[in-house]
Amino acid sequence: MKKKIIIAGNWKMNKTPKEAVDFLEKFLINVKDSKCKVILFAPFVDIEKCTDLIRKSNIDIKIGAQNFYWEDSGAYTGEISVPMLETIGVQTLLVGHSERRMHFMETDKDINKKVKRAVKSNSDLILCVGETLEQKNSEKGQESVMFQLKSALEDIPKSLIHKIHIAYEPAWAIGTGKTATPYESDKMCRFIRMCIEKMYGSEIGLYLNILYGGSVSEENCKNFLEMSDINGLLIGGASLQEKCFSSIVRTADSVIKGRTE
Ligand code: 13P
Repeated sequence: MKKKIIIAGNWKMNKTPKEAVDFLEKFLINVKDSKCKVILFAPFVDIEKCTDLIRKSNIDIKIGAQNFYWEDSGAYTGEISVPMLETIGVQTLLVGHSERRMHFMETDKDINKKVKRAVKSNSDLILCVGETLEQKNSEKGQESVMFQLKSALEDIPKSLIHKIHIAYEPAWAIGTGKTATPYESDKMCRFIRMCIEKMYGSEIGLYLNILYGGSVSEENCKNFLEMSDINGLLIGGASLQEKCFSSIVRTADSVIKGRTE
């Protein structure tokens, strides 16, 4: 399957606005000719500075938001809405990350409400799914991923599914240095594609982008990108150092170049 590779960095709760600008000033120069779709999920306070800098550079990198609320405005202390984020240049939204499920008790129902709001917006959406170690060890990995997909996508019509990319992030591989093997992750990505095909038809499965995330590094990224059902990477720790993240984008470009030769 030959698609545009997506390389997404999730900075999580890291980087002040100044640190974000310092990163981007170098990063934009280093990846300006990239053929990948590059997305950076920045903390809320960094977004406006990042989108300003990108706009001035004319380089095609998207800034995403790591979280948002499903209502547009109202008495929801501490929350932030999609229209607010889009006003400051957000073009991609992240939903269902395992850290939000685990530390902030986000339920599958909450995730479904967020997906419903996101598909009505102008932004794309990366929906994260992935099993816990306990589910993996009891051979319930596929079952739990299928359940997450079905609940997150409940009542999402076929006409809007093109706005959604899926990230397979096994919870046990996040920030642990343990990765699923490229073979294991490709197998789960193929399973995800099959679930989406069952729900929406085979033509949807063909253009669905599926990313792998979980302890991706400069050293191992190529192994994942060469797998047939993995169309990109969602990277935490290794997206924080500019040199390291640029090097991953360059590796992805070399994979794209290899495909066209
Ligand atoms: P790490 O790459 O640090 O394991 O984090 C992955 C992740 O959670 C990306 O969303």
